[in-house]
Parts: sequence; structure tokens; C-alpha cells
Amino acid sequence: MKSLHLLGLCTLSLPSFARAWSPNQAVLGESYDAGLFTPFEDLNALSETQFTTLKHPMFPKHGVRIKKSNFCDETVNAYTGYIDVEARSLFFYFFESRNDPAKDDVMLWANGGPGCSSSLGLFLELGPCRIVDNNNTKFHPEAWNTRANVVFIDQPVGVGFSYADHGETVSTTEDGAKDIAAFVHLFFEHFKQFQGRPFHLSGESYAGRYLPAYAAAIYDQNTRLAEYGLTPVNLTSVMIGNGYVDFYRVYESYYDMPLERPEWAQRWGTPRTMNR
Ligand SMILES: *[C@@H]1O[C@H](CO)[C@@H](O)[C@H](O)[C@H]1NC(C)=O
Ligand SMILES: *[C@@H]1O[C@H](CO)[C@@H](O)[C@H](O)[C@H]1NC(C)=O
Repeated sequence: MKSLHLLGLCTLSLPSFARAWSPNQAVLGESYDAGLFTPFEDLNALSETQFTTLKHPMFPKHGVRIKKSNFCDETVNAYTGYIDVEARSLFFYFFESRNDPAKDDVMLWANGGPGCSSSLGLFLELGPCRIVDNNNTKFHPEAWNTRANVVFIDQPVGVGFSYADHGETVSTTEDGAKDIAAFVHLFFEHFKQFQGRPFHLSGESYAGRYLPAYAAAIYDQNTRLAEYGLTPVNLTSVMIGNGYVDFYRVYESYYDMPLERPEWAQRWGTPRTMNR
């Protein structure tokens, strides 16, 4: 039940975050010269001890630092790193698929909040391992990387292992979305083995607010990529569990839910404290 309480906390949220998506933001750099870019290509060539920094001329303000890891799932290639956006750094884990990393889809997982680290999803829900004690993890056979290449991301900046050098923050989901869209493009542009692969955004709770904005940013960015003759990100689906898409409707439904589903009222209590 402890994990359910954690998830419950991660549903708490601020209505001020529920702002409308405005699609007119410049995501990409102004100019692009293909001659300046050499893809990194081979994830296996990454170091285990030092970060390799990946850049792209279309995103002069963005870089990706990545290194190999044997964290959490020794049966697959795993990586950790940061997306650097000027002085902001977003932390991610990447686990290749246990099935066929060369063919399986790519997905990104984000927990909600706002303010929840995706290590919550990693260790308690869909990740490749479970925490045993302070020093050990154990294999999780039902992990989503059983059949997909999965990225877990701590976002926005300030959450989990993500940090800012000078205390900068991202104050809107739309600003955060630009960073995610740039990351996704950098990833596919550098690791050609995944390029064109079906890509899925997934998450829960407040990610019901994040993911549509991320999808919109990736979609808009694809238009620009196509203009530059670059391969668009094959955004195929957005999967939202227990989504916190609309603050006001969610709260109203807290009243109806236990009335229609008495077994829920028994488990979670009745809405006696609510006025309506
Ligand atoms: C974890 O490792 C540390 C350092 O080796 C040790 O002091 C501690 O007792 C270990 N904790 C558990 C729960 O095994
Ligand atoms: C995107 O993925 C789908 C499978 O979901 C595939 O049929 C399609 O060819 C891919 N598109 C591109 C442009 O690679």
C-alpha cells in the first residue's frame, strides 16, 4: 500500500499549472548545416566511467551527456545521463529492450506531480528492477523493457537527479516540453539504430498534463525537421494512466466516483468532507 500512497501524493497538483498549450514557440535553432553534424551512432561505444557529450547544430543550446551503466538490469544495455539545456540538466535512465532492442519500439516514461521523479515508476511500477534494501535491487520480470526500449526521465528541472547550475527553473509545461522535444530529437539523430522506430510517450497522474504538451512540441518540431530534410520522430502513441488532464473535472469526479463504485468508497473512504 505504501506505493499507492506515494502515487496518491504524486496526484496532488496546482491548478495554475493547467495552462493552455501555445504552439508558437521556436524549438529549434535558427540555422542548420548538415556538414557540422556527425552522429554518435553506436551506443555500445559509450564509456562506463565518463560522460560522452552529444550535440546537434540545430540545437545549439542543447546537449546530451550519456554513459553506459549496469544499473538495475544486467541482462540489457543500460545508460544514464543528462540532457543539458544551457545551465539546466535533466537526468534520464535508458534501458534497452530485453526482447530485440534492434527492432522494438522506443518509449519515454514520465511520472507526474508536478515534482515526482520517474524513479518512482522505475522502482515501484514498470521498471526493470525493484529495491530490496539500501544496497540491492532485484530483477523485475514484468518490466516494460521486456518488449520496448524505455527512457525514464526526471523532469522538469529540480525533480529527482535533475538540477540547474544557478537555481534556474522551468515554470511552464510548455517550456519543459521544448526540452523534451529537443532531447527526443537528439536521441534519434545520434543513435541511428533507433531512428524511425515507433516512439511512445507514457506516464501517469500529472503526466496527463505533461504528455499532450510534449506530444504537441514533438509534432511541431517534426514539421521543422522535415523542412531541414531531417528524419521526423515517429511519434506513434501517447499512453496516459490515471491522467490528471483536467483539474476541475478530476476534482468533481471525486464525488461521483465512490457513489458509483461502492467498493472504492469502502477502500478509500466516502466523500463526506466534500461540499457540493
Ligand atoms: C549497505 O552497504 C553499507 C556499506 O557497505 C553498509 O554499511 C550497510 O550496512 C549496507 N546496508 C544494508 C541494508 O545491507
Ligand atoms: C512509424 O512506425 C510505424 C509503426 O507503428 C511504421 O509503420 C511506419 O513506417 C513508421 N514511420 C516512419 C516514417 O518510419
